[in-house]
Amino acid sequence: MFPKFLNFKFFSLLTLILLIGLTIFFFEIKKKASTSPSTLSPIEKELTSIKKPQIWDQVCIHCHSLGGEGGDTGPALDLVGDKYSPEYIASWLKDPSKIKHDTLMPNFELKDSELIEMVTFLTHLKKTI
Ligand code: HEC
Repeated sequence: MFPKFLNFKFFSLLTLILLIGLTIFFFEIKKKASTSPSTLSPIEKELTSIKKPQIWDQVCIHCHSLGGEGGDTGPALDLVGDKYSPEYIASWLKDPSKIKHDTLMPNFELKDSELIEMVTFLTHLKKTI
């Protein structure tokens, strides 16, 4: 009735090949889902794209802390994004003594690009998004 090669051995082999194929297929899908940025929400995407500016580690960290890491001459800045608007942070960084005359924080004369990078970074340090 059936051709001779359609025996038990043939079907076992076929099942095995199908199983291996399916396993590889599912692993590929899983790999894609975990690495593809399209699975991140817009907010997550934005947050993961904000890097700590180099200047933070070169300058600010001596007086300010983040996550308990850094100096304590100035206040910890973990939640500074909740406290101030980007405009205020920018004007503070441009010239701290203009806002507080006797401040210990120097004017670092940041370049515009450095200022934007720093304000973007600091603005995102907040508890609530
Ligand atoms: C020499 C120490 C020192 C350094 C370096 C320093 N700061 Fe400050 N900063 C302070 C002090 C002190 C204050 C608190 C204001 C005051 O009372 O003088 C302050 C305040 C601030 C504030 C306002 C915080 C608040 O809660 O009111 C921000 C934002 C800030 N600094 C950002 C920075 C950034 C960004 C850098 C790096 C470019 C930096 N600071 C480098 C000493 C420093």
